Amino acid sequence: MLIKVIHVIAGMLVVVLFYAQLGMLISRRRAVQTLRTSEVPRIVGLPRVLKIAMHICWSIVILAGIYLFIKLLGIYPYWLLAKILLFIFAIIFSIMSFRGKGSRRAQNIGLFGAAICYALIILLVGIKPWGFVLTGNVNQPVSGSASAATGPSN
Ligand code: HEM
Repeated sequence: MLIKVIHVIAGMLVVVLFYAQLGMLISRRRAVQTLRTSEVPRIVGLPRVLKIAMHICWSIVILAGIYLFIKLLGIYPYWLLAKILLFIFAIIFSIMSFRGKGSRRAQNIGLFGAAICYALIILLVGIKPWGFVLTGNVNQPVSGSASAATGPSN
């Protein structure tokens, strides 16, 4: 349970940090349009502390996620598999967005892609379509999902 709480908190922080980064980048772009470029401080990715925090959170999410995944013992809800795939894409898109190299077009694609992936992850963990939730070490259908209508699978 503790690992799951740690995983969830780190996961939420990853999402919050990404959108904070996105906000900073957009406001800098706006400032560049109105002021002289030399007056606007450069943002190459996040300021260092936030960037390190992002990497720590990514690591915690992945390590705790792998631990939880192993504990599922053969029952892998679709929402979870979709979430893991989206997370991989979100990391790739985030790297495209914030590493400070590459064209503006690549950065835009990265920002847009990562924003969509993180939003879908939140949607998936929120509604868990056709999914199961681990309660007291037993996988149970999420009430209201399609799987609840077909009954428990174990
Ligand atoms: C930003 C990314 C992520 C977020 C926001 C997130 C969020 C969550 C949340 C809220 C839960 C609790 C769901 C519940 O109510 O049972 C959860 C469970 C879980 N997550 Fe993640 N997660 C993320 C990434 C990952 C990754 C990358 C993995 C795999 C390596 C993973 C594997 C799992 C597993 C195995 C569970 C337990 C599923 C269950 O109890 O049925 N998650 N996650």
